[in-house]
Amino acid sequence: MNVENRTIFENDNLQVLRDLDTDTIDLIYLDPPFNSNRTFEAPVSSEAAGTGFKDSWTLDDLDNASHGELAEKQPQLYHTISAAEFSHGKAMKAYLIMMSIRMLEMHRILKPTGTLYLHCDDNASHYLKMVMDSIFGKDNFRNEIIWQRAVTSKGNLKKGLARDSDVIFRYSKTNTFVWNPKAVTIPYDMANLDEKTKKQYAYVEPDTGRLVSYTSLTAQTQDPDSHLTYEIMGVTRTWRWAEARMHKEIKAGRIVQIRPGNVPRYKRYLDEQKGRTLNNIWTDIPNLTAKNKERIGYPTQKPLALLERIIRASSNPNDMVLDPFCGCATTCVAAERLQRQWIGIDLSPKSFELVQRRLEQHGIIKQIHHRTDIPSP
Ligand SMILES: C[S@@+](CC[C@H](N)C(=O)[O-])C[C@H]1O[C@@H](n2cnc3c(N)ncnc32)[C@H](O)[C@@H]1O
Repeated sequence: MNVENRTIFENDNLQVLRDLDTDTIDLIYLDPPFNSNRTFEAPVSSEAAGTGFKDSWTLDDLDNASHGELAEKQPQLYHTISAAEFSHGKAMKAYLIMMSIRMLEMHRILKPTGTLYLHCDDNASHYLKMVMDSIFGKDNFRNEIIWQRAVTSKGNLKKGLARDSDVIFRYSKTNTFVWNPKAVTIPYDMANLDEKTKKQYAYVEPDTGRLVSYTSLTAQTQDPDSHLTYEIMGVTRTWRWAEARMHKEIKAGRIVQIRPGNVPRYKRYLDEQKGRTLNNIWTDIPNLTAKNKERIGYPTQKPLALLERIIRASSNPNDMVLDPFCGCATTCVAAERLQRQWIGIDLSPKSFELVQRRLEQHGIIKQIHHRTDIPSP
């Protein structure tokens, strides 16, 4: 099926996913129901009033055809799901079947260079990991991102620790995938440096006021026979660099000896560094509070900053981004802002209206396509 950029499908995503062409999508982000056994509703007074969804599952929710199809065509995956039923019960089985039949389609429509991010939490993350390994292959598992979405205040320890994080699994379709390291390198905020960086760049250069660290130039192992062992500024050591590079840096004034006889060190300026590289634990993007300007009241609305980071990291401009559980279309807004193409799918009739309104709020007026048909092949 041919789908235009900027399309919102108001439908069960299974129908739409089944009709999308194989190997056509660059990036999929999904934030499905988490199997939380709750029902979500937007506050009546919010822009998203009238939206909501049920997140409790029974085998009766599934259509028999997809259940049977999974058991017949994907016996290994079905065994994995049955194991989850033994340890967690029928609701988990129902939830995992619902997710698996959709995930198989998502895997099919991803381009070979494509990536999928599955947002979930500890209600089902361990079981979903098994499903994902089975569908994508364990070697295509790339990251488990822990997103710290809240910092619960003190005094909440009566029964245990607060559950303040979500899990986002990152899987690629093959081992050749789009990955942009710049997107996970955070420039230093010079006015608000973290303690670790402050400690590392503890010196202020008198003439310029620039923050400096003096880093070691010696090799980890000292080897008198190495070609890296030579003398500079009256000190002989095994160095990290060959002599030619060392002399170039000395000429540039980047090697300093605090006092005669001291081991020379390299002068590294903070303002020349690219920034802090993120790891898989993301603590710098807070969830939206009721007062946040971005908040439109949609239950489970995710911050744009989270989606922008994911889209930047795993796609390039003009790539096609799909969110099959798009809610108030945060992924679509983020994709539009980053000059990507996008498709959103949600059962809710509100998604189309909300994405239009949100894009207008960001000063973006574009024609959005709204499809309520069940596409035919
Ligand atoms: C957790 S919310 C997504 C929130 C979204 N990430 C955002 O920032 O607004 C999950 C969404 O999945 C939708 N949904 C649940 N089952 C669906 C299905 N089978 N097909 C399409 N959408 C579905 C719900 O209507 C809900 O909007």
